Amino acid sequence: MRTKIVAGNWKMNKTPAEGAALIAAIRKELGEGACPVEVVVCPPFTGLDAATKALAGSTIKLGAQNMSAEAPGAFTGEISVGMLQELGVGYVILGHSERRTLFGETDAMVNRKTKAALAAGLTPIVCVGETLAEREANKTDKVVTTQVRESLAGLGNDLRKVVVAYEPVWAIGTGKTASSAQAQEVHALIRRVLAALSDGQTALSIRIQYGGSMKPENAKELMSQPDIDGGLIGGAALKADSFVAIVRGGC
Ligand code: 13P
Repeated sequence: MRTKIVAGNWKMNKTPAEGAALIAAIRKELGEGACPVEVVVCPPFTGLDAATKALAGSTIKLGAQNMSAEAPGAFTGEISVGMLQELGVGYVILGHSERRTLFGETDAMVNRKTKAALAAGLTPIVCVGETLAEREANKTDKVVTTQVRESLAGLGNDLRKVVVAYEPVWAIGTGKTASSAQAQEVHALIRRVLAALSDGQTALSIRIQYGGSMKPENAKELMSQPDIDGGLIGGAALKADSFVAIVRGGC
């Protein structure tokens, strides 16, 4: 019912030429057709133009890692949604934990960006997740519920177009993956929060990705959980063989 979606978040890695080479390798390894998973690659801003060319004729989609909520104007160093669209970007990661913790992004900022992305027809991939300290203090449910409610407030019918990524901060880049049971529990919670924001049918149609040390060895089990609809991949997305193996785990 929900098409699985696997996205590679390259973070601050790959020059434009390196990114184009990675895309060529992913295309070769993945082949065409066969696997019904939606595949997205998210290079840094500077790699988007080369990526769009490298993706010509492919079903693989292009995403960005951030964007401004503002219309074009005096915002030094920022990138508008129109600039992304002109480069063929269809998806945008918003509110990644690195943006929240290192660059001070709040739920309110993520909410504004989500609305701007949706208004322009982009698919936002909105990230939520608790820190280790929050998990150990039994605050996971409260933290994730607040992030989902506030980041996705006031979207109306557009809520169904959003992809949510559950990324426990303690699992990102640490090699520590949430167990499939731990992840499923939070995914089910997120779906209940989405239902409260909209209705049961809408919540059932929204894709919820897991992210945090997802790799070929654990991708299949994670994505076979009832509420896990794909993955947001960091480190393992930087090599064609591991990224494609993860995609195949969702086929
Ligand atoms: P890792 O897969 O490297 O843990 O990163 C996950 C992530 O942050 C994807 O957005």
